[in-house]
Parts: sequence; C-alpha cells; structure tokens
Amino acid sequence: MSKIKAISCHKILNSRGDWTIETHVELDDGAVGIQAIPEGASKGEREAVSLPVDKSVHIVSTVIDDAIRGENPEDQEGIDRMLIEMDGTANKHHFGGNSLLSVSLAVASAVSNSKGIELYEYLSAQFYKKPFSKASLQFPTPVFNVLNGGKHAHNGLSFQEFMVIPSRAYSIDKAIEIGTNIYHSLKTKLIEEHLDVDVGDEGGFAPNNLTVPKALEFLKAAASEQYKPGKDVFFGMDVAAESFYSEGHYKIREENLELNDDKLIEYYEKLFKKFEIIYLEDPFYERDYQAWEAVYKKLGNNCMIVGDDLVVTNTKYLKKAIERKMINAVIVKPNQVGTLTETFDFVRMAQEAKMDIILSHRSGDTAEDTFIADLAVAVGAQFIKSGAPVRGERVAKYNRLLEILAINNPED
Ligand code: PGA
Ligand code: ZN
Repeated sequence: MSKIKAISCHKILNSRGDWTIETHVELDDGAVGIQAIPEGASKGEREAVSLPVDKSVHIVSTVIDDAIRGENPEDQEGIDRMLIEMDGTANKHHFGGNSLLSVSLAVASAVSNSKGIELYEYLSAQFYKKPFSKASLQFPTPVFNVLNGGKHAHNGLSFQEFMVIPSRAYSIDKAIEIGTNIYHSLKTKLIEEHLDVDVGDEGGFAPNNLTVPKALEFLKAAASEQYKPGKDVFFGMDVAAESFYSEGHYKIREENLELNDDKLIEYYEKLFKKFEIIYLEDPFYERDYQAWEAVYKKLGNNCMIVGDDLVVTNTKYLKKAIERKMINAVIVKPNQVGTLTETFDFVRMAQEAKMDIILSHRSGDTAEDTFIADLAVAVGAQFIKSGAPVRGERVAKYNRLLEILAINNPED
C-alpha cells in the first residue's frame, strides 16, 4: 500500500485575477494529486474561512506536510479528521478551509492516479463504500447561468443569476448543446435590443438597464427560438437575497421596490405565473428562517427551493433546514466546509431527506480544477452549476463531463 510522501503548495491566479492556492500531494509510488481552490464573491456568513494565500501556502507546505506525510492516502476519513482536529475551530479559521480542502481533495486525486482509475470511480467507491459500477453511472443536468447581476456584475440588477435548465430527460451532451444554443440566441437578442454583451464573473451576460422580469423575458424569448419552455427547457434564479437585504427589507432598486417577506413571496409568485421557473436559490437572507418556511410552503411543490448560503455545505445548518422544512434542494460547494469527508456527510444527509443535489463551482474559479464534475457523477447529483457555457474555467467542468461520457461510450 502506498503512503503519502510529500505535500507542497504554491500560489496561482484564479479567473478574477486573484491569488489562490494549488496543492500537490505526492505518494511514494510516484502518483501525484493536484488541487486548485476556488473562491466565492457572494459567500454565506457561516462558510469555512479562506486564509490569505501566503499563509495557506506556508501552512500546507510545513505544518500539514509534517503531519500527513507517511499516512495511508486511502484513509480519506482518517486524514480529513486529522486536518479538522489540527485546525480545531468550527469555521476552520486557524488553518483555513482553503488550505484543508486543497490537501483533502488532492489526496483523493493522488489515490485515483495511483490506482489508475478515473477520479469519479474512486470518489464513488469512497462515497458509497462499495466498488463503482458503470451501470449506476448518472450525469448531472447543467444549470446554465446566462444572465448575471448581483455581486457578479456591476449592472444594477438585484438578482445574481438567471439560469436555463434543460429537461432532465436529455443526455448530458444534448443538454450542453441546448444550453449553448440558448446562450447564443440570447446574445443575438441582447444585441438586437442594443444591450451590452460583456460577461460577468460566471460567463453570463451582464447588461445595464435590466430588471428581473425583463431578464426572464429575454431568457424565455431566447429559449423559445428552438425549444419549448416548460417541456424542453426550464428557468431558474439564484436570487442571493442577502446582497440586497437590509433591516427586514429587500430593496430591488431597479424597480424602486422595498419589499418585506410577504411582498417578496408575492413578487416571486407573479414571476412563477409568467415563466416556467423550477429553481429558486437563496430567495431570502440566510437568517430569515420564517420567510424560508413560507416560501417553501407556497412554492416548494412545483419548484426546487435551493439552499446555498442558508446551509453552506454544513450538516449542522442542513439539519435545521430539514427540521423546519425550508428547502427541498441543496447547493454543494466543498470549499464552504473544507474537507471531502464533510462534503460527503452533507450529501448523504441531503439524499436521505430526498433533496436534489446541485454541485457548484464558485464565481472565482480555475480551469485547472474540474473536481466538481467528477464529484457530481460520483454521488449521482441531479444538477451541476458551472456558469455559462463560455470562459475557460466554466467550460472546463462541462468538458470534463463530456470526457466522462466519452470514456463510458467509446465510439469504436
Ligand atoms: P459565489 O456565488 O461563488 O460568488 O459565492 C455563487 C452562488 O451564490 O451560488
Ligand atoms: Zn448561490
């Protein structure tokens, strides 16, 4: 059995031109696992803390390297428990969630390389605690964020993400084709209306002078060019409501609205009457629990009510959301919690509660990192968010899914 031989870490740039870390874990049989770490801009208040890059590089290359060297890399849980205990804080602020996660994920990659198996196969075996079987292979449906606002753009649009979601009936390659066709139709429509087609952090267009209903109208018009909304394709929004919440009110400035909880639910209901919306993420501020309960009650029957900032990939907050019936779907972002084992625990709890799972990138991401594509396949996630089908760091994840498809369906 191989052992961990050395861990090193250096800084690299992410898609926003900010520094992040990349960690290399080398095993004594020569196999290497490499992991770059993404970074959010619209973070939940209770996410694991990211340490400044120079500190992280130092911690990973010295303290963590000393502690983990010589360990059995197949004992993922044991290694993750060591990392968690060494850090010793609830929000990982001592060593940094970014430092811990880079080691945790790179260890898994190193083992899959050492065994000569695909990463998703190894992750699946770790997650389900039984060997991967090709018969159970299931691809996530991409949720394409094609119009950007909120903290990912500076265009005065309150809601953060407007998404097109192909029907789950389509294969992964067909779903990617649909998303791409709609993206291109949308670009043409925006140009026709003399709106900007510059893109935001996740590759969606970010024109000025949009309102939420107008954004959805553009989406529906673009989708309708080739597809039938409500049958082939659906719509979704990541409201990221925290970014326009203040003292009990939600300020949708572009429409001069200042809404309380009830009024914001009415606002959503109106949109639901006009548009085929099946996905609503972070519709309220993460501590506005009563509003979450109310929106789930009103709209949760026919729509995914998705917790991101609400639950931050942490079983502690998910448990509460389950007990109080606030959501029926969860975002999974490994860097919100800091280790693979905790991410697995979170996915298991959500699956037991029959929730849909959406694996997600971050707005600051790297083309080097496609881990979420493998992880989505490994746990059988229903959906994946990797932005618009443009920008290298976004398409890298979609391209990895296409690669997994090709590996499993060779043409010859
Ligand atoms: P972030 O946002 O990666 O900028 O935090 C993404 C999201 O809210 O889903
Ligand atoms: Zn979100």
